Amino acid sequence: MRLVERSDALTSFHGCALVPTMGALHEGHASLIRRAAAVPDGRPTVATIFVNPTQFGPREDFAKYPRTLEADLRLAEAAGADAVFLPDVATIYPGGLDTARREADAWTLPAIATEPRLEDAARPGHFGGVCQVVARLFELCKPATAHFGQKDYQQLRVITEMVRCGGGRWGSLRISADPTVREPDGLAMSSRNRYLSAERRDTALGVYRALQMAMSAQRPATAEALMHETLEQHGFEVDYAVVRDAHTLMPVTGLETPCRALVAARLPEVRLIDNMAMPVWR
Ligand code: PAF
Repeated sequence: MRLVERSDALTSFHGCALVPTMGALHEGHASLIRRAAAVPDGRPTVATIFVNPTQFGPREDFAKYPRTLEADLRLAEAAGADAVFLPDVATIYPGGLDTARREADAWTLPAIATEPRLEDAARPGHFGGVCQVVARLFELCKPATAHFGQKDYQQLRVITEMVRCGGGRWGSLRISADPTVREPDGLAMSSRNRYLSAERRDTALGVYRALQMAMSAQRPATAEALMHETLEQHGFEVDYAVVRDAHTLMPVTGLETPCRALVAARLPEVRLIDNMAMPVWR
């Protein structure tokens, strides 16, 4: 496996299958890399590791975000990555971080980033930074395919729309929507699970339980009420617990629409997000 720090060394990896990450890799990332590497098209698989400052709000966890490079490289290699791109801030943002922050704030976002009033309402500016860094990684790595996990479902939809509306800016780039990987008890894998103490680890399962309650409901409104109840019983502060149109992420207007339950909820030390496809309600 090659370590690539300079973007000019990426030329031989153009046309790759790309797995963008912020490091602190876990089995969910390994699964993305394995899926990228499993496609028998001879394309190299490139994982990127860059903790992107512009997607964190001023009161968020940029400084304490886990950085575990040695273990990340071992995991990426074992999962089948041909290269890991480890850019520094100057490579991603040659105009400097202050300019980059201003540009992230001014980024033209697809409507799906803001109109559903979900992640963007709780984390203003977050998707500006995500689109900015992902666009830059696409520009530098020129991938044929990029893999994103369904765990960050709104992020996946935002990036898919950004590429669809990009007028071929990244060629015929295809976005692969890869399944969420869960612990045996159902907790979705996340780099931020490292913030959970052993005691809170059980509490965190409330998010998965809430989504399962939603699965058992007969109507979206009932599903939402059950999710709120379950999360509050586990001691969460709820940012949102909603059932939305799986494509637009807007409120569901009729039955027989593919729906997604989406949750963001906070414990004192961590904010968790998760989601699940709902059965088709008739
Ligand atoms: O999902 C993530 O880890 C990040 O938001 C991403 C897509 C790598 C951009 O920094």
